[in-house]
Amino acid sequence: MDELLKWRAEFPILERSTYLISNSLGAMPRGVYDEMRAYADSWALRGIRAWEEGWWEMAVGVGDRIAPLLGAAPGEISLHQNVTITQAVIASCFDFRGPRNKIVMTGLEFPSTQYFYNEQRRHGARIETIPSADGIRLPLEKFLAAIDENTLLVPISQVLFRSAYIVDARAIIERAHRAGAHVILDCFQAAGTIPLDIRALGADFAVGGVLKWLCGGPGVAYLYVREDLRARLRPALTGWIAHRRPFAFESGAIDAREDSFRYLNGTPHIPALYACRPGLAILNRVGVPAIREKSLRMTARILDGAKARGWRVNTAENPGERAGTVSIDCPHAAEVCRELLAREILVDWRPAAGIRLSPHFYNREDECDLALAQMDEILRTNAWEKHCAASVPA
Ligand SMILES: Cc1ncc(COP(=O)(O)O)c(C=O)c1O
Repeated sequence: MDELLKWRAEFPILERSTYLISNSLGAMPRGVYDEMRAYADSWALRGIRAWEEGWWEMAVGVGDRIAPLLGAAPGEISLHQNVTITQAVIASCFDFRGPRNKIVMTGLEFPSTQYFYNEQRRHGARIETIPSADGIRLPLEKFLAAIDENTLLVPISQVLFRSAYIVDARAIIERAHRAGAHVILDCFQAAGTIPLDIRALGADFAVGGVLKWLCGGPGVAYLYVREDLRARLRPALTGWIAHRRPFAFESGAIDAREDSFRYLNGTPHIPALYACRPGLAILNRVGVPAIREKSLRMTARILDGAKARGWRVNTAENPGERAGTVSIDCPHAAEVCRELLAREILVDWRPAAGIRLSPHFYNREDECDLALAQMDEILRTNAWEKHCAASVPA
């Protein structure tokens, strides 16, 4: 008996579809309806008092529900609108005009992160992007060799979004710290799928969002800053929420707090902070070790099924290198994906990856089999053809 299946009742969409897309958007817990009502009630009935009755603290307070999933302590996380903004807050703590101005990244990093750092060249940053030979793995030795005494920042995903490859973050952090560089660990595709201990790893920063594996919805991204750096660094991207006396409305330069509020800026995204709470509560109750154990079982099942059908798999077979997603590049993958969606099997397709199947703790193992069998059938019956560009009406 799979104990984790008892959580299915909390996620309405599981009743009506085969939901294998938690790498993109985790299923919504039904508790979100109550949270959105609680938000509306506080605004409608408490009005301006809502700020002092809870809203003001939420952009740090709600982070305490994410901390255990990362291996961080209470008070160590500030919450922002998305990961790109967290990267901007971090980058704004540094000066790219000196000799230490290099940023080392991989070509497999999430594109938004690459776009953001490449634009920092206008402020003096030099970017070294290490390509991946197979589009799946990080070439670790080459990556480590690129980190030198001129390296300032190393933004790297703990789990690469395209292939779900688990990166050796410990080796990168050790190398970066020996060279005097800072590592920004993007845990978006890792938190809620694999156990994390960012404190033990010694990561300088950790970032990520809650809308995928944490079932927290869009609009909330976390930023962890290591304890000894927290009060020392000064974000230039700052604002009144970071001020020690925000309601004094003092003019001139900021007198910034020294805790995680230091990394905030303007008015927080209160509705999204309400919406993310039920998902985080469930994830904390289920626990990542149980999720990981089941995830390994389900991804192995998908891998075996894909290989038995002769399809190319763009995900590492070694369980130690594989997080929650299996990317299958079967023939006509983009069109097959569209037909799966039409059949209420929710997955996605990405160029150079294929069809991404991401079972989570709430999935049944037979849903993995169903998705593969449907892919088979779509190919065998040529049902994918109706999604070809020529046959789709303009
Ligand atoms: C590893 C990773 N980083 C970042 C993002 C998204 O960044 P943002 O929150 O800025 O949209 C994603 C996802 O879509 C991702 O997979």
